[in-house]
Amino acid sequence: MYRRIADLLKNASPGDAAEIRGWVRTRRDSKGGFSFVEVNDGSCFASLQAVVPADVPGYEQSIKDVTTGSSVAISGKLVDSPGKGQRLELQADALRLLGTADADAYPLQKKRHSFEFLREIAHLRTRTNTFGAVFRVRNRVSYAIHEFFQQRGFLYVHSPIITTSDCEGAGAMFRVTASRESRDESREQDSPSMTSLNLLPSTLDPAEFFGRPAYLTVSGQLEGEIFACSLGPCYTFGPTFRAENSNTTRHLAEFWMIEPEMPFFELIDNMALAEEFIRHLCRTVLEDCQEDLAFFADRIDKEAITTLRMIAENDFLRVTYTEAVEVLTQSGMTFDYQVEWGRDLQSEHERYLTEQHFQRPVILYDYPRTIKPFYMRVNDDGKTVRAMDVLVPRVGEIIGGSQREERLDVLESRMREQDLDPAHYWWYCELRKYGTVPHSGFGLGLERLMLLITGMQNIRDVIPFPRTPKSAEF
Ligand code: 4AD
Ligand code: MG
Repeated sequence: MYRRIADLLKNASPGDAAEIRGWVRTRRDSKGGFSFVEVNDGSCFASLQAVVPADVPGYEQSIKDVTTGSSVAISGKLVDSPGKGQRLELQADALRLLGTADADAYPLQKKRHSFEFLREIAHLRTRTNTFGAVFRVRNRVSYAIHEFFQQRGFLYVHSPIITTSDCEGAGAMFRVTASRESRDESREQDSPSMTSLNLLPSTLDPAEFFGRPAYLTVSGQLEGEIFACSLGPCYTFGPTFRAENSNTTRHLAEFWMIEPEMPFFELIDNMALAEEFIRHLCRTVLEDCQEDLAFFADRIDKEAITTLRMIAENDFLRVTYTEAVEVLTQSGMTFDYQVEWGRDLQSEHERYLTEQHFQRPVILYDYPRTIKPFYMRVNDDGKTVRAMDVLVPRVGEIIGGSQREERLDVLESRMREQDLDPAHYWWYCELRKYGTVPHSGFGLGLERLMLLITGMQNIRDVIPFPRTPKSAEF
């Protein structure tokens, strides 16, 4: 008999009996001897109003404790709602108070709270309209991502979280070590047999849990390439970690990334897939998350829905890095960071290009080799690599990808150029030694996508529990 509110509003009819369970948003007592209790259970944006007459079982003992934040179970009969904005309300015949919430202490009073404040109470912020909407949309998007790839025959690969190689070659990694206690314990148990029997190869460090320094992964790409170069198109979807000390509204130390990898794809195929992917996700959300999107458009960003439609309906432009640098230097704009061929673009430049100059999503490609990782394929000009970044309004870079270097000699020389030891990436190199093929892939930052969809301003507010420098409370 207990049903969630989303299900009732979609499927139930007046006259149906039902019980709802959830958290009280407000209670109003009428002089006529009944109370209006608005209950939200998180299943959808809408709350359901229950009309509770004073003579129903449970009323007298508990109604004064049915305050904002308390939890209740209310059963009764659904009736047409005379109020506007909602089809049904619940005519209660029993009320059960499940948990009280001291009205003076409960941090989420009716008034609006700042997102900064709500971040400090991440255990309660999911009870607000905004965070309910954000995380329902995040759920739908995650499902749509799997749908997109599964429908196209891609294999879902669980790439490892602990790794010993730095995919981006940027050194922004978190070290993984065993705690002092467990190290001592394992030494007691293992070391006599391991060392006396000489089970550890001499290259391994006995003091390290994995026999060598290990880290949290910055990307599942290198492992994704292994799968792509044997089982075909595949994708990873998992948490990734970057120890960059960047305190911006677009960077997290832990974020979720989706990384498809396709054998026999060249850069243009990669671009086409990235475009199709983003547009598919925008269309799905426009179709399936209407109520939550309407809230974002109303309270967070007026342009929320218009922007999504614009992306869903327009082709993305393809522009080389070199052309983009020309546009930027001739724009007459003053930027905080100087634009010069050979330097990386900053988010202010990316946003100018997509928001003001081109006014639609842009795929920049063929970046200077000196600012991109070792694995990107070198172009015939010797100066640029087959990199691509997808730029969208509000966010700037939402996707980074490339065609991979499939020529062993070029790959090895690129590694040395970036002070990386090919021996350390021996297995990655062997993919080029045995049956190498052209292949490509990209990474989409899930939280960047969420910023685009919701219009939220800060990346900390679109991930359940943000990790940023000096902050990991929950
Ligand atoms: O451009 P990035 O660094 O590319 C890679 O990691 C490649 N291995 C992807 C691939 O080709 N398979 O990161 C990809 C995307 C960025 O475009 C951005 O959306 C997101 O990941 N991203 C971050 N999101 C939040 N916080 C951070 N610190 C991020 N760094 C990257
Ligand atoms: Mg990038």
